[in-house]
Amino acid sequence: MEGATVHQINSLYIHFPFCRHLCNYCDFYKIIPQEGDYDGFEKLFYEMHQEHQRFLNENDAVLGELETLYIGGGTPSLWGKRGATYLEKLLHDSGVQLKPEGEFTLEVNPGSWTPEGIKAWRDFGINRFSLGTQSLRPDYLKLLDRIHTVEEVYETLHYFKELGVPFSVDFMLGLPWSEENKRDIKAELNDILSFEPEHLSLYILTAKAGYPHKKFLPSEEFIEQEYLLVAKTLKERGFNHYEVSNFAKAGRQSRHNLSYWKSRSVAALGPSAVGFLCETKTRYKWKSKTPRFEKEILDKDSFQLEKLYMALRIDEGIRAEDHFDTEEWNNLQKLFKKWVDEGWAELEGKSLRLKSPGFLILDGLMQQIFSAQK
Ligand SMILES: C[S@@+](CC[C@H](N)C(=O)[O-])C[C@H]1O[C@@H](n2cnc3c(N)ncnc32)[C@H](O)[C@@H]1O
Ligand code: SF4
Repeated sequence: MEGATVHQINSLYIHFPFCRHLCNYCDFYKIIPQEGDYDGFEKLFYEMHQEHQRFLNENDAVLGELETLYIGGGTPSLWGKRGATYLEKLLHDSGVQLKPEGEFTLEVNPGSWTPEGIKAWRDFGINRFSLGTQSLRPDYLKLLDRIHTVEEVYETLHYFKELGVPFSVDFMLGLPWSEENKRDIKAELNDILSFEPEHLSLYILTAKAGYPHKKFLPSEEFIEQEYLLVAKTLKERGFNHYEVSNFAKAGRQSRHNLSYWKSRSVAALGPSAVGFLCETKTRYKWKSKTPRFEKEILDKDSFQLEKLYMALRIDEGIRAEDHFDTEEWNNLQKLFKKWVDEGWAELEGKSLRLKSPGFLILDGLMQQIFSAQK
């Protein structure tokens, strides 16, 4: 379109779909690599990239200088030096650069990386790692069907410390048998904190159909206690609970994930990866085996609703004028004051932000907003 403004997209998610073993609780797209699979993946990825460039062009958008890049999976640390070299060339050939002050993250699984690979990723530009720790107890790692050992977790944490690279850890709660066995989650957390991560993502185990330990999952009350205990412990240790499932030291929030929560554009590449172009409100999801995607254009109401839900997830909270007209905001005051009395939220003038106990029941609170608006 002649004269149309071209929108620069500064965030990119890349999905690497291979894992050494498929954990029985995981519902992300992943496969165990067979001989030649990396060749096939790289060819497919290249075709996706070509298709993506055409799609962005049609939407008057372009992948600009990247401020954030997140390479997730799957287990992208398995891709190692080969992956770093491949992506460097692909991005270079298409004129995409990493901004010097950007945030570039790679997910790492304990036992699925080599020092050579990590160094190659750092040379490529990765300046933040996210380690799939989950638990520091061998019995829980086994119950979770993880193939790495606790020793491999420690080995990775020591290596990150030695390199002096910033890192985040994934940590899980709501684990099978944890209520019966009185899991000492605080002791595990303190052990992890002794390695000084700057960020922690907290996952509550969600069981899909056929999950083998479904009968042994803890009660909702137990999960709630664990969640609030983790939130309290992390706050005492200087972390901000800046999103429902995420904690960070000051200024070290995940900038990439904040783009999702602030409903900004995030491009995506790789099997099953999901991207979003905010200007045209277009969400697209790549198929797993062909360089094709399905797209959905959100209507105004769905987008507004999603924006509200996303904004409530983060500790910046919502500003009345971004989500409601004056009458709607006034009508919601009684409800919001109740949230404040319950200790779920803080209300300051025309802004509202949830606190840890509110984050825990976010979906219920969204329902209350709908009911109050009817
Ligand atoms: C998809 S994984 C990718 C990173 C890496 N492969 C790992 O295992 O840590 C990202 C996070 O999602 C979590 N996850 C996957 N399925 C989950 C589920 N059903 N419930 C809660 N967390 C889940 C994993 O434990 C991991 O921390
Ligand atoms: S290693 Fe991570 S991505 Fe792979 S199956 Fe396990 S949880 Fe899922």
